[in-house]
Order: sequence, then structure tokens, then C-alpha cells
Amino acid sequence: MTKAPIGRKLGQKVKKGKLKASSRRWLERHINDPYVQRAKLEGYRARAAFKLLEIDEKHQILKGARRIIDLGAAPGSWSQIAAKVTGSTEEDIRVAAIDFLEVVPIPGVKILQLDFLDPSAPEKLLEAVGGTPDLVISDMAAPTTGHQKTDHLRTMHLCEVAAYFAVEVLAEGGHFLAKTFQGGTERELLSMLKQNFRQVLHIKPASSRSESVEMFLLAKGFKGRRPTAAEEAQDADAAQDDVLSE
Ligand SMILES: C[S@@+](CC[C@H](N)C(=O)[O-])C[C@H]1O[C@@H](n2cnc3c(N)ncnc32)[C@H](O)[C@@H]1O
Repeated sequence: MTKAPIGRKLGQKVKKGKLKASSRRWLERHINDPYVQRAKLEGYRARAAFKLLEIDEKHQILKGARRIIDLGAAPGSWSQIAAKVTGSTEEDIRVAAIDFLEVVPIPGVKILQLDFLDPSAPEKLLEAVGGTPDLVISDMAAPTTGHQKTDHLRTMHLCEVAAYFAVEVLAEGGHFLAKTFQGGTERELLSMLKQNFRQVLHIKPASSRSESVEMFLLAKGFKGRRPTAAEEAQDADAAQDDVLSE
């Protein structure tokens, strides 16, 4: 389990004033959130850091990772962790991150300010990370529209695109972690992941707010890329040509 939080006194109230009741509730929850306080103390840019650290504590996905791609990185706490575990430096970049929001530079992280759904994003990320990644992490959440079902579907779509990206780029034995929603992962996506990874599971870390339907999907132990049907047919043709020409 993650350590007990320390720091400023919890249970603080925000004075009634100009703020709308919903904004006041948000602010109160934020300033009284032990993970927010801990993030500040430990130098992380967001409380989200503890979701990744907690998942790692139980499932050991960061240990041994040499190259990491971070999808939906702003403000940057997962990238901070990724840079640390890979020993990434400005001279030898091992972490690539993407977000359409600006991310304040993080030493050792190549940051792309771009929509992950942009067709150029996969190639740019691979180029930026400088080699085959062994971990793809995605905390992407679609910007909220106010319509819960739309937001949910958009985030699920991001999770799905991230999963197909992961099986395209990961090194054998690598892992994929992505934000999803309770009961939201499509059966088709799950079966694709089960075919490609040795273990697939859903996780709700303690640091993920209990009232939130957020969950994480973890696929461990990538089995390696398999040739597509077209590639297999091409190989078979080539083998036949070899036999004929002997
Ligand atoms: C929960 S935040 C990520 C927090 C981050 N893991 C951290 O530790 O600081 C989700 C991020 O996903 C980004 N995002 C959502 N859709 C995206 C997309 N299509 N392309 C790039 N980033 C996206 C949002 O801009 C947002 O910054």
C-alpha cells in the first residue's frame, strides 16, 4: 500500500464567497486530498503519479523498462517517473510523451504537443523515443463535454487506439497500461489484448477516487508481433519461389 500522507492539515473548508457551490466543493476536495499534498511534497506534478506507483508496486511494470512512451502526459507526473526509472537524460532520451496541452519541459523526456489521434503521432513518438519501447502508458482522458456518455465513449476510443498502437510498437515482454472505465472495455479489445499479452487485468488503485468510474487496464508480457495474414502469404510465396529456383 502507498504510505500514509503527511503535510498540511486535512478537513479544511473554503469560505462561501464568489465561488459557485460546485467549484467550492471541487476546491475543498482538492486541498483536502492527501494525494495532492503528497504529490507536492514529493515533487510530482500531479496526484496521478500515485496511481502509476501503486500499480507498479503490485505489478512491477516499471522495473527494467528501458524505453517508455507516455500518452496523454500533461502535466507530467507519469513522465517524471518514467524518466527516473529509465535513467533518461537529454543526451540519451528514453522517454517520449504526447499531449495536445503544453507540458512544461521535463529533463530526459521528449515531449510532443500533438493530438495522439493525429495520423503522424505514432511515427513521431517512435522516432522521439529512439528505439523499441518496452512500456506504453496511457492516462488519456477525453476533454469533458458535459455529456457523460459522450465523454466515456471518447475516452474508451482513446484507450482502444492506444492498445493497437502498443501492439504495433512494443518489444517482446513489454507491458501496456491504460485508463479505462468500469465495465467499459470492449470485449473485442479485451480479446485482442488477451491474444497478444500473457496477462490482462483491470485495476482500481486506491489513489483513484472511489466515486470515479476510472479504472486501469493492464496488459502484461507482450508475446511479440505476429505476421499479418498478408505478410504470411508473402512469406509463403517467397518460400515457394526459393524452392522453385533451387
Ligand atoms: C489525466 S491527464 C494525464 C495526467 C498525467 N498522467 C500525469 O501524470 O500528469 C489526461 C491527459 O490526456 C490528454 N489527452 C486527452 N486526449 C488526448 C489526445 N487525443 N491526444 C493527446 N493527449 C490527450 C489531456 O490533454 C490530459 O492532459
